[in-house]
Amino acid sequence: MSSAKSASETPRKYQLFIDGQWVDAESGKTFTTPNPATGATLAEVAEGDKADIDKAVEAARRAFEGPWSKVSARDRGKLLYKLSQLIDAKSKELAAIETSDNGKPIKETSYVDLPQVVENFEYFAGWATKIEGETIPVPGQMFNYTLREPVGVCGQIIPWNFPLLMAAWKLAPALAAGNTIVLKPAEQTPVGAMELAALIQEAGFPDGVVNVVPGYGETAGAALASHKDIDKLAFTGSTEVGKLVAKSAADNLTKVSLELGGKAPNIVFADADLEQAVNGAMMGIFFNQGQVCCAGSRLFLDARVKDEFLDRFKEKSARVRVGDPMDKNTQMGPQVSEEQLNRIKGYVDIAKGEGAQVLTGGCPPQLEGDFQKGYFFQPTIFGDVQNSMRVAQEEIFGPVVSVITFENEDDLIKQANEVAYGLSAGIWTKDITRAHRFAKAVHAGVVWINTYNMFNAASPFGGYKQSGYGREMGKHALEMYTQVKSVWVDLSGKPIGWFGN
Ligand code: NAI
Ligand code: MG
Repeated sequence: MSSAKSASETPRKYQLFIDGQWVDAESGKTFTTPNPATGATLAEVAEGDKADIDKAVEAARRAFEGPWSKVSARDRGKLLYKLSQLIDAKSKELAAIETSDNGKPIKETSYVDLPQVVENFEYFAGWATKIEGETIPVPGQMFNYTLREPVGVCGQIIPWNFPLLMAAWKLAPALAAGNTIVLKPAEQTPVGAMELAALIQEAGFPDGVVNVVPGYGETAGAALASHKDIDKLAFTGSTEVGKLVAKSAADNLTKVSLELGGKAPNIVFADADLEQAVNGAMMGIFFNQGQVCCAGSRLFLDARVKDEFLDRFKEKSARVRVGDPMDKNTQMGPQVSEEQLNRIKGYVDIAKGEGAQVLTGGCPPQLEGDFQKGYFFQPTIFGDVQNSMRVAQEEIFGPVVSVITFENEDDLIKQANEVAYGLSAGIWTKDITRAHRFAKAVHAGVVWINTYNMFNAASPFGGYKQSGYGREMGKHALEMYTQVKSVWVDLSGKPIGWFGN
């Protein structure tokens, strides 16, 4: 591994991390990944494929059956805690790397991503010693108890929108519960996961407990999802690929958890604090360039305040500082890739074709120098949207919000739930009964009342409907990474009377 300091210098180089070793891909192939702010090559990375995934799964199996099974819960906790501290100590450098890899502003990687990565490893370090079975009061001279055991070898496929944080959400609970892992980072953002692998090695995890194999989805990802010797597959990404991996896992009956797309309703009632709601709508859709599965991408406005709200929202959106993500004053950096940028541009045309209005933005900003080659897009508001339009039903995954007007609460809840997804929802109102009524009625795994995009390692996150299944974070995450064994013990000491008498 090398450690070049910035995108303008020699590209960083990374190998695969398998069985505690840094190795080239069996094929010898590599791929490059750009800094999305400039298009310059950030890193050259070994390109894992089926052969490498096979090797990594074998290593993870050996570690699971061997050394890792002998590590006590306390020592697993200590290793996770040590890892959290190593990340914390290096967080400034890692934040800069994450910004170069993904394009998200340095303010976000420094104050959101890295602190939450540390928090997740810290939180699950504490859980390692608290994963317990139970005793069941069964009748007769019998003793029945349960053991909560790790699932085994876990394949984990993660996306590019929060590269390090998605790795943390997946690795931390799996390791706390005693599993071993093959992690496949997204091809757009492999760098953070490789840096994390180096810290996992430094923390002292036994070889093979965590293996990191970067590569493309159709090759490395598909090989992992269809592998016969993984016990569990955890996937975060598009609903389209979620369905594919669930199907290939089904052939081996591999346990699957999915965290997929969203099209969240973010709802503003006339009685809301409008200033708070405007800022909340912005947080809902412009945070991380809108590349957030729980983004508030359908903004429902109460007809009584629509005009006033939109005036303020447009004015503030046009003032968002889009540009150099390494500048600490930047609020929005580039989209992650040219492909994502083109996808967003495509949706602007779709919106116009459907009769929606572009109220602000709708195109890339004018930037200077190297940033002209970056994948930037302006904060964009579509007005006059109907909930049935494609821009209200499909995940765009950019800083693009569709504004829908509503007249009354019943109509609103119906529209809010008329969508294939069910990941998250937001509501802005001072009426607490209405807020809780909505929280109960909306089909979503996470609801925010007078706030948006709040996360904590202790609080579960995951989707209803086509947003997936399983919950990450909190104690619920441990359910995905453990299985229950029921053990029966005869206390009578007598032969079973059923046969033989
Ligand atoms: P994607 O679902 O293709 O990629 C996510 C991960 O899955 C990556 O690691 C990728 O390499 C892997 N992958 C891709 N095809 C695979 C396959 N056939 N088998 C196994 N693994 C595979 O997402 P993509 O193409 O990067 O983005 C497309 C759209 O997906 C976005 O515009 C957005 O709407 C959605 N998305 C949602 C995310 C979320 O957080 N829920 C994250 C990323 C994308
Ligand atoms: Mg894809």
